[in-house]
Amino acid sequence: MREILVTSALPYANGYIHLGHLVEYIQTDIWARAMKAQGHQVTYVCADDAHGTAIMLKAEANGVTPEEQIASVKASHEADFAKFLINFDNYHSTHSEENKHFSELIYRRLNDAGHISTKDVEQLFDPEKQLFLADRFVKGTCPECAAADQYGDNCEVCGTTYDATDLKDPHSTLSDATPILKTSKHYFFNLPEFEQFLKDWTRSDNRLQTSVANKLQEWFEAGLATWDISRDAPYFGFQIPDTPSDEPDKYFYVWLDAPVGYMASFKNLCDKRAGTDEALDFDRYWMQENEHKTEVYHFIGKDIVYFHALFWPAMLAGSEFRTPTGVFAHGFLMVNGEKMSKSRGTFIKAETYADHLHPEYLRYYFASKLSDKVEDINLDLEDFMQKVNSDLVGKVVNIASRSAGFLVKKYDGMLSEICVESELLEDITKTGDEIAAAYENREFSRAMRLIMQCADKANEYIDAKKPWSLAKQEGTEQEVQDVCSVAINIFRQLMVYLAPVLPELTNNAKEFLNLDDLSFASRNEWLLGHKINKFKPLMQRIEEKDVAAMVEASKESLAQAAAPVASKAVAKKDNKPAKEAGTDIDAETNTEQADYIGIEDFAKVEMKVAHVLACNHVEGADKLLQFTLDVGEDKPRNVFSGIRKFYEPEQLLDKKVICVTNLAPRKMKFGVSEGMVLSTGNPKTQLTVVTLPDNCVIGDVLA
Ligand code: MSP
Ligand code: ZN
Repeated sequence: MREILVTSALPYANGYIHLGHLVEYIQTDIWARAMKAQGHQVTYVCADDAHGTAIMLKAEANGVTPEEQIASVKASHEADFAKFLINFDNYHSTHSEENKHFSELIYRRLNDAGHISTKDVEQLFDPEKQLFLADRFVKGTCPECAAADQYGDNCEVCGTTYDATDLKDPHSTLSDATPILKTSKHYFFNLPEFEQFLKDWTRSDNRLQTSVANKLQEWFEAGLATWDISRDAPYFGFQIPDTPSDEPDKYFYVWLDAPVGYMASFKNLCDKRAGTDEALDFDRYWMQENEHKTEVYHFIGKDIVYFHALFWPAMLAGSEFRTPTGVFAHGFLMVNGEKMSKSRGTFIKAETYADHLHPEYLRYYFASKLSDKVEDINLDLEDFMQKVNSDLVGKVVNIASRSAGFLVKKYDGMLSEICVESELLEDITKTGDEIAAAYENREFSRAMRLIMQCADKANEYIDAKKPWSLAKQEGTEQEVQDVCSVAINIFRQLMVYLAPVLPELTNNAKEFLNLDDLSFASRNEWLLGHKINKFKPLMQRIEEKDVAAMVEASKESLAQAAAPVASKAVAKKDNKPAKEAGTDIDAETNTEQADYIGIEDFAKVEMKVAHVLACNHVEGADKLLQFTLDVGEDKPRNVFSGIRKFYEPEQLLDKKVICVTNLAPRKMKFGVSEGMVLSTGNPKTQLTVVTLPDNCVIGDVLA
């Protein structure tokens, strides 16, 4: 039996849980349940991430204390997670005694070992609010293009990144006051001292996904920098211990104590369980010398890799704690192929979803999409409906509903004493090993595919045997019972396989099957001469109107709610977290943080050098130009581009341009567009087609 501690990232205590978050909590929960079902001892902990200026400001705006603010958010988070059947062993808060203890302990050990230094930092300061301003709380005129009303980190018009101090006519978004420059002493964690350790750590023991390891390699090449871990008062967090008494108080930056929250939540659980049968030993999981006795895994989103794969292991190693066995990053949630959008009603709160649809539908859909890769996953609402209805209702539940009736009515619920299709059942029992491995490797979509293949086999078998017509014939009693017993046995295997994903449905099925165990091992014993109970419908079909109502309600509920503010260090274009020198309040709307994609996402786009063989106006389309492009294939391609306003066709004739060649063909009114010509600029004002030097070779791939 393996001893495993697993965590999901700690959600910020200043916003609600939405479907994007749920990708992670559902992924982790399925994994934890699957590992438990395979007989391991698994402990799943999480907590609210409760510190930071954003939470302090939010409490102020709501007229409550930060403690009241975080308590009410924590209650709502826990209620949401419960609805989605997220089975935490413990849910704690980073604003807790345990977390204070371990944050201080880790800091002191780092400090004693010489890994902390101090430096004066000059920063914008709001003289009215009396606090240092994060980039996102300063607005002004872009120093590059003079666009007005730009944030302190980059310009949304020209895309330049700069320091907030470079903005012209800056003002604080909190008070409208003109910020002043102010210097204060900051504490830094000397990350570069851990470079060799981190290089070894990231490359050993399969700790990280390949694309994450590659990303880290880029960060190593760019060079590691010291990390600013202190913030000035006023701040909602823990005071840094042992600072000179004649200097102003300093607080830990929220990201310093956030991951420590994993330990703190686990410690809290150890204390709760002390003296019970389920007692857990804290040291066994966190002391360096026990590193190989137990396993610790963190599930996170791709936006917070820097914190979990660099800062966190370095902090742990530097303070003589064990480091995680693995860090597993997932991609971001798209809805209908686009970023979640409030105006389209696809920015969906967990609560709004649960008001309209059963949470297990979403658990299954996410499972059918999730892999071990860092790819974004798409919730296509049409596909969601179709897939859940056809797989779960049409294939899986159907097996039981087609066979249980006969058994209960005619045989008092008794299954046959023997299995007449042992080869089929053996095959499905054996597939369980592959399914178990797929779960363990986080290849959930593969697991779901294998399960549905088993369901298909069962349905084919029932279709071939037709128990409903057999039942009408004379002298077939035994055969009907045998056939239905095979079907019920397969259904039971499927319940074992689906239990990590559908805990509620399978729990109800357990009653119907008259079983008390759905662990993976239980499936090896087939149900022979076993009595089942009356079948009750286990799942309803998704109705289109419910999905529509959820989308509609999301438009409403979010229009009412003010945009939530999250204290997230936004990944910058260079993939480092937002400038660490300043403050922590990098205010962002809750999910728009997906600032970078993995190399595997980029690699999916195929771009080729194309030669413009013909370029023409399109009758009846005042925005389009039609291209005939040679991209080095047998046949030229037909591509439409919305640039007519900016070009005469002959300007582009014979030019070398860039064509995206693996875009799905799009049927338009005027014909099929088989690619896309790249241009820069703004479709409303000016677009410029990107042209390449003449010596570029037609059909060459751009990389
Ligand atoms: N508080 C930090 C994590 C601290 S962990 C020591 C944080 N909180 S968060 O609320 O913004 O996000 C919590 C988790 O949800 C993160 O792993 C994040 O990547 C994930 N997601 C948030 N929005 C998401 C999507 N739209 N899609 C997928 N995952 C997303 O980060
Ligand atoms: Zn600009």
